[in-house]
Amino acid sequence: MYDNIITRVEGRVGVAQLNRPKALNALNRELMTELMTALEAFDADPAVGCMVVTGSARAFAAGADIKEMADATPARMMTGSFIDLWDRLQRIGKPVIAAVSGFALGGGCELAMACDMIVASETAQFGQPEINLGVIPGAGGTQRMTLAVGKALAMEMVLNGRYLSADEAQRYGLVNRVYPVEVYLEEAVRLANEIAARAPVALRLAKEAINATFEMPLRAGLDHERRLFYLLFSTDDQKEGMDAFINKRPAQWKGQ
Ligand code: CAA
Repeated sequence: MYDNIITRVEGRVGVAQLNRPKALNALNRELMTELMTALEAFDADPAVGCMVVTGSARAFAAGADIKEMADATPARMMTGSFIDLWDRLQRIGKPVIAAVSGFALGGGCELAMACDMIVASETAQFGQPEINLGVIPGAGGTQRMTLAVGKALAMEMVLNGRYLSADEAQRYGLVNRVYPVEVYLEEAVRLANEIAARAPVALRLAKEAINATFEMPLRAGLDHERRLFYLLFSTDDQKEGMDAFINKRPAQWKGQ
C-alpha cells in the first residue's frame, strides 16, 4: 500500500515504520506524504487508540532528504509545501509516540519532537546538524528543542551541531524512557497499548490541553483546560469512570 513506510496494528496501536533503509530513512516528500496519510487513517480508525512512529535500529531518520532539496529555491519550497505538509501531524487527535533508535538528526529529530512522547533506545542520538549544511532547522528544531531542553543547550545543538545521547536526552527532558535497542520498540508499543486502553475522548482532550501550553498564555491555557474538563461531563465515559470508581469495578470505556 505504501512504498516508503510499513504500517501494522498491534493490539490497539497503529505502528508506522519509516522504511527507506538505504537513505537512513531520510524524509523526502513521498515518505512524509505517506506517513501523514497513514497517521490520519489510524486517527479515523476506531480500532486504534494510540500510534507509534518508528524507524530502524540504525536510524529513526537522518533528516530531511538533502538530495531532494539540494537544488531547491525558496519559491519551489513554498509552492511545493515542503515543510507545510508536516503540519498534518499537529491535527492528529490520538496520542503519537516516537520510538527512536540510532540517528534522529535534523528533520528526524524534529519529527520525533512533533510527536507527543519519545521512547528511545540506548543508541539513539538526537541532533540538529543543519548548520553543517549552511542552513538551520526548518521543521520546528529551533522552537521545540528550545522548549524541551532550554536555551543554553539548544544554542549548542543548533549553532554548533552538538548531539545528545539517549541518556542526555532523557536527563534534559526530551525523552520519556530509554531501553536497550533489542526492546525499545516493544516497550514503546506496550506503553502505547496502555494509553490506548484509556478513555478515548478524555485522551484526545488531554493531549489537546497539554499541547495548548505551547500556543497560549497561561490564563488562556487554564481557561481552555477548564472548558475541556467541563465538556467531558457530557460523555458516557465520565459517568462510567466515576461510577466504576465508586462501585469498585473496572471501567468499560465506550469512547462516547
Ligand atoms: N538526506 C539524504 N540522504 C541521506 C541523508 C539525508 N538527510 N542522510 C543519510 N543519507 C544517505 C547517504 O547519502 C548515504 O547514501 P549513499 O549510500 O547513496 O551515499 C546513505 O544515506 C548512508 O549514509 P552515510 O554513508 O553518510 O552513513 P554514515 O553511517 O557514514 O553516516 C550520518 C550517517 C552521520 C547520519 C550521515 O549520513 C549524515 O550526516 N547524514 C545527514 C544528517 C543531516 O545533516 N541531517 C539534516 C538534514 S537537513 C534537515 O533535516 C532540514 C530540516 O530541518 C527539515
